[in-house]
Amino acid sequence: MTPAEQHNPCTNPPYGIQLAGIGAFVPKATLTNADLEGLVDTNDEWITSRTGIKQRHIVSGDETVGELAIAAAKDTLASAGMEGKDLDLIIVGTSTPDTIYPAVACQVQHAIGATNAAGFDLSLACSGFVYGTVVAQQFLMSGMYKTALVMGADIHSRTVDWTDRNTCVLFGDGSGAAIYTAEQGAPNRFFANDLHMDGSFGKELTLYTNFDNCPTVEPRTPRTKPEQLLYMNGREMFKFATRVVPESINTTLKKANMTLDDIDYVVLHQANIRIMESMSERLGIPPEKLITHIAPVGNTSAASIPIAINHAVRTGKIKKGHKLLLCGFGAGAAWGSTILEWTAVDQRPPLSEAAMADTAAAHPVLEPALA
Ligand code: UT7
Repeated sequence: MTPAEQHNPCTNPPYGIQLAGIGAFVPKATLTNADLEGLVDTNDEWITSRTGIKQRHIVSGDETVGELAIAAAKDTLASAGMEGKDLDLIIVGTSTPDTIYPAVACQVQHAIGATNAAGFDLSLACSGFVYGTVVAQQFLMSGMYKTALVMGADIHSRTVDWTDRNTCVLFGDGSGAAIYTAEQGAPNRFFANDLHMDGSFGKELTLYTNFDNCPTVEPRTPRTKPEQLLYMNGREMFKFATRVVPESINTTLKKANMTLDDIDYVVLHQANIRIMESMSERLGIPPEKLITHIAPVGNTSAASIPIAINHAVRTGKIKKGHKLLLCGFGAGAAWGSTILEWTAVDQRPPLSEAAMADTAAAHPVLEPALA
């Protein structure tokens, strides 16, 4: 390990962090594999076996990523039994903001009445939630802030090329969030972190903007397909993920002085069920310790980890005292891991029996978050 990796600021910081709440939101409209068969040359068998995805939730009409984020923020505040004014910091991981500025964090701040909060957006694609969590930890452990809302919110249904079967079947829209609190002298419930990036992989997964030059100068070269804002070399990203994720997980465990036996659940970025299963096999993670929640929502980018955790909390899998290892990876390339103990006691009313029973097919975050 490098000297930076050996240093672990999570060990006995002046302020210890606890987890106070979790929440999520996905839009109402769905896009099933059968629907996609009408758009591109694909089929349910290919999508299910190669990705694990059965359907995605997607925005329609004028719905915005800000609205998804605000709904998830409200759900998370309800889970923590808090109000907007209790927050000191709002970090939103997003690579699909409605506007570059104002930041989505500003929209959330205003909508939930977080009058005491500072905040910003963080653009690291699918790693946004893990990066945001580690950044928030630094503010909390130092005592600068006491309560942080960390979010992931993305709408890729407006960025994919709907004629490109390689990418349009993968992504879904959604938002998820967690609230962390800090208290002087309290035990720290984060045990170790590990963050990386490698810009040489940038070309393998890119989301372009469409800004043009001033009309008095030479125009920019148009892309062959102007509608193709998002480009992904799936095979290269797959290879990259299966290399870096195990390394990051092992480094984080080592830093925390833990082994996989100490971890109750591993929550990876939900990019593809095959990536998760391959990781699990390579690292020797028993299948029952792997949280997978890709079938009903697809790859929701920065939102995928909190949406998966929220689902596991809502359905009684993750409970107080469980230790979780989170690992995000994706465009940049950027990737990172963090280990934490679940300390939150969910203040939301329990899901209805119908919503619980629907878990396998649908997404139970929808109803409470819409209320
Ligand atoms: O969230 C950010 C990080 N994301 C990732 O890390 C994603 C990583 N990559 C992946 O998840 C997978 O590489 C994909 C799901 C994108 C693709 O799966 P794959 O097993 O790597 O497929 P492939 O790209 O090797 O393509 C195999 C075949 C090709 O046909 P030929 O050339 O063998 O005739 C593709 O044209 O499957 C074809 N194909 C499809 N067929 C039916 C590609 N997309 C589709 C499709 N339906 N939607």
